[in-house]
Amino acid sequence: MYNNINCACGLVVALIFLSATPLQAQEFKSYKAPVYTKSWSAPSPYPDRISITFFDDPATSFSVSWRTDTSITEAVAEVAVATAAPRFWRNSTRQQALTETMNAMHIANAKVVANYHSVTFTDLKPNTLYAYRVGDGEKWSEWIHYRTASKEQEPFTFLYVGDAQNQIMELWSRLIREGYRQEPDARFIIHAGDLINRAHNDSEWHEWFEAGGWIHSMLPAIPVPGNHEYNEFNPDEDEEHLSYQWRYQFTLPENGPEGIEVLKETTYYVDYQGVRIVALNSNDMPQEQAAWLDQVLTDNPNKWTILTFHHPVFSASRGRDNEVVRNSIKPIIDKHKVDLVLNGHDHSYARGSTPAEAENITSGINMRDRTGTVYVVSVSGGKMYTLKPEAWENYEAKRETAAENTQLFQEISIDNDSLYFRSYTATRDLYDAFKLVKEEGKPNQIIEIKENRISQRTHDNTIAYENPAVRDFEDGNLEKWDLSLANKAVKVDHGLARNGNHAAEFNISAENPASFITDPYDARIGQTTWYGFSTYIPEGTGLNTSYTIAKWTGLPDNEVEQSREPALAFQIKDGKLILTANTDQAFYSTQESVRRVELKVDPATFKKETWNDVIVKVRWVYNKSGHVSVWLNGKQVVEYTGPIGYNDDDGPIFHLGLESAGASSEYGIIHDEYRRGNSMEDVKPSKFDIMNAQPDEN
Ligand SMILES: [Fe+2]
Ligand SMILES: [Fe+2]
Repeated sequence: MYNNINCACGLVVALIFLSATPLQAQEFKSYKAPVYTKSWSAPSPYPDRISITFFDDPATSFSVSWRTDTSITEAVAEVAVATAAPRFWRNSTRQQALTETMNAMHIANAKVVANYHSVTFTDLKPNTLYAYRVGDGEKWSEWIHYRTASKEQEPFTFLYVGDAQNQIMELWSRLIREGYRQEPDARFIIHAGDLINRAHNDSEWHEWFEAGGWIHSMLPAIPVPGNHEYNEFNPDEDEEHLSYQWRYQFTLPENGPEGIEVLKETTYYVDYQGVRIVALNSNDMPQEQAAWLDQVLTDNPNKWTILTFHHPVFSASRGRDNEVVRNSIKPIIDKHKVDLVLNGHDHSYARGSTPAEAENITSGINMRDRTGTVYVVSVSGGKMYTLKPEAWENYEAKRETAAENTQLFQEISIDNDSLYFRSYTATRDLYDAFKLVKEEGKPNQIIEIKENRISQRTHDNTIAYENPAVRDFEDGNLEKWDLSLANKAVKVDHGLARNGNHAAEFNISAENPASFITDPYDARIGQTTWYGFSTYIPEGTGLNTSYTIAKWTGLPDNEVEQSREPALAFQIKDGKLILTANTDQAFYSTQESVRRVELKVDPATFKKETWNDVIVKVRWVYNKSGHVSVWLNGKQVVEYTGPIGYNDDDGPIFHLGLESAGASSEYGIIHDEYRRGNSMEDVKPSKFDIMNAQPDEN
């Protein structure tokens, strides 16, 4: 219906902008995954994926597991007390390995056959530096050093990392190597689940072993499985299985709940120099593990108790909650006054604690300096989520420190009655630190260590995690859009365009009063998102009444949640911009709980027969930290801070189009240059310069 619109008007606009100094929208770098070929991760006759673990008493034993191809059917390991004389191996002993063939040819993303070998060295001397190597008698690994634990309660340090999981080879590598640089004498590393992304994917496991390299062969791993260590073997199957490689490549303690095969080598404990470290499998059988944990913590001669499992008791990130874990495991944690709980899963960082229990406390003690169990959620790999805006307010716990968009490792040192906890970024900046002090019969004293910590890192003050999106219609189709609200009344037209040659044309009528195309992207609650689009309103299309040109709506969290007004909508009435916005703090919205947000718009006019450039910056949060800024044709017309949007798992999605309840005949509008990103630079139309944009005459 725009045949009567010729390109002259567009040309005028183009000339206006071209006459200013046009700034090309900045090129952004989008993430592109590297390619790993099948041969890259294939086994060979030489030992690889060498990892050490605890199987029995760390003072007198340790285990080693490694992989070869199936040509190596007999394997051995040698161990000797290490000395500086190169022929220390004259004193070595040799041990036959247990060799098992892992045939994963039936698993879609594994398709590999390999031999796994393992040895447990026993009867070693405590606190002694050993050298070991693995091989077949001819083809050997290097000699690798490992020190046994002391029998006594002696000071030591260990590392703890959250999910490696994503971009393991690219990015987890630097993190774990900085961890090693920080504490090369760490006695072990706790991996709190989601070591890889797709449980059985052999290439991802290869990334994990390559990224950590010989760190895995020098520092014992205490791994627990995350939800990503469980998956179907094949897409057409319903049952999920523990990562097929898990039990082949880690030789872990078999002191978990007796007779429960599925928990074997995923639920266990290790006593190390006065500390009991208990690893739970938070994917399965919480009641059985709670009962076992109660027992393990009842008969516990160690001074300190540390728990690790994947799913956090107190979730760090938006839209996440693990009620089952909280209901089953936390009572046991409380009962036994566990000192520290180390979790993953949320791809962000949070540290805090439950209040100290006042019972058995001598009078005069300052309870503010006392704490119950300290809980930590951390992430080490490349995937990043957004923090809960309400912190741990709903959990009867206090979150002290939090981070977004930051790879972290943790260094934990125990020295008799003191535990020092330090969290470092991937660039080894100190991010979080505190000290726990144990005193007989009292809750732990907690001392915040604020010196030398860097300030809080969020999505809003760090390099963008999300890729910006450009939908300028220049590809001539609507493939990247969700068209479920489009009513077939939208088409990509060649002709009038804000830039280039194509724009999207929307037509409505009395029978068809709305037509929208949807950007299928859930904004993140608590994170600032920028949007940009340009709109052309033709003369004489009868749009004199109120009409909507763009809106953001949220999806209900469940079926009882009532449908709601848009979180934000752009309406035009008599050429004037009107913004309607809504908010709701309640997780399940009702008609009564939704509140209208007053967004004051400076007088702003959408001009006809010319392009109007809109830029919107929104921090979608239903609490006071929400924010909305709007620019129309380069002039800021809205500046609002306060609640915006709904308390939903995901933030709203964007719709661009046209809607008019009063449509009595055919109406039309054209949109172009939709962008979503992390800055004004990301979303402004190309050939747009905010300094030189045409001022609004009103
Ligand atoms: Fe994860
Ligand atoms: Fe997870």
